[in-house]
Amino acid sequence: MPGKKFFVITSLLLSVFLFQNCSKKDVGSVDTGQQVTVLNLPETPFNYSNVSFPAHITAALAANDNTPVNNAITDDGATLGRVLFYDKNLSFNKTINCASCHKQEQGFTDDARLSEGFEGGLTTRNSMNLLNVRFYRSGKMFWDERAGTLEEQVLQPVQNHIEMGMSIDSVLGRLNRLTYYPTLFTSAFGSADIDTVRIARALSQFIRSIVTYQARYDRVKQGLEVFTATERDGEQLFLNATGPGGPGAPTCATCHTPPMFLNSGAPPFTLPDNGDPGILNEGRFKAGSLRNITATDNLFHNGSISNVETMLNSQIPAHGVAPPDRAKILAFLRTLTDNTVTTDIRFSSPFK
Ligand code: HEC
Ligand code: HEC
Repeated sequence: MPGKKFFVITSLLLSVFLFQNCSKKDVGSVDTGQQVTVLNLPETPFNYSNVSFPAHITAALAANDNTPVNNAITDDGATLGRVLFYDKNLSFNKTINCASCHKQEQGFTDDARLSEGFEGGLTTRNSMNLLNVRFYRSGKMFWDERAGTLEEQVLQPVQNHIEMGMSIDSVLGRLNRLTYYPTLFTSAFGSADIDTVRIARALSQFIRSIVTYQARYDRVKQGLEVFTATERDGEQLFLNATGPGGPGAPTCATCHTPPMFLNSGAPPFTLPDNGDPGILNEGRFKAGSLRNITATDNLFHNGSISNVETMLNSQIPAHGVAPPDRAKILAFLRTLTDNTVTTDIRFSSPFK
């Protein structure tokens, strides 16, 4: 079988190359059945626990942080979470990782309307972005908020029959057989024991560390740059305009609160959708952070709105706006895009 021979030779060459050239620590190298996996992590873990945010972000964090007291972010904990997030061993046929549907380059969401799971099946809702999840005060997760906390949420995709298709026992069995996990669990939690509480905590630490604070918007808030007239008008409309609802009706900011533009449990808003019961079967939905939203396609819980421009031009209640306001709001929303989070090595795949 020439294919197999080629595979073996390539793997060997790859290992030789990596061992000779890699100044970083190779925590493990293992044949996962699909590919030879080499894990590249820095000798000293990256900094996740002690990032200095600008004042407007620090204030929002103090008011909204959903980090539980028993799961503060540590550098080693988030590092383990990063490895788990990118490890395809968490899916039944080793083809899917969390990043398959939460892609770093797309702001940790999926541009596709619905995402493909491990056997090619489609998710029933649009993937959510994982930006600034830590700032969602209630901590409830999913479009319909059915998970009470992030720790509770992160194990669900693994067991979802469309997404990753694993049982908890098979995940634990898999992870226990991989050579790189004992060291990572020991660094993160003090011993090599692998259990679901630790997996959930590590994944949550990694996700909570994904914070946008380096967009043009943030530089303006720090007085380092100034908005153009169009952007400034857009911000004013976002904060103050009530649309056709008139005085007293919610503004964009009532529901998508700065500086992370997370939906804050504001008045219910319903995108007409007969097929999806939403929060408490009331046809309502959570929205994730609007940071980086203009860089994403297929919006809302069912991915039915192709992009922000389409939304602004539409008749969707509270979301379609008057023609003269569209370009302004769009210009403002574009200032929310943080291109560091989409390239930061700390959030990238550690598997090479
Ligand atoms: C096959 C695609 C797919 C995979 C794989 C996947 N997700 Fe998701 N994720 C989604 C979809 C779709 C939603 C929204 C589902 C819903 O609301 O019902 C979502 C929602 C979430 C949310 C909720 C965010 C919020 O603001 O409420 C988090 C957190 C999350 N996923 C983390 C993960 C983690 C961690 C993994 C890996 C263990 C993972 N996902 C794997 C598609 C996927
Ligand atoms: C009454 C509350 C409310 C108001 C007012 C409101 N929104 Fe929303 N918005 C939501 C909710 C809830 C969702 C998610 C709904 C869904 O998926 O069905 C959403 C979704 C969005 C999305 C898609 C998010 C995603 O991740 O797919 C964008 C973009 C958006 N809103 C921008 C705006 C702008 C701009 C305005 C002002 C013109 C505005 N919203 C006004 C509550 C509101």
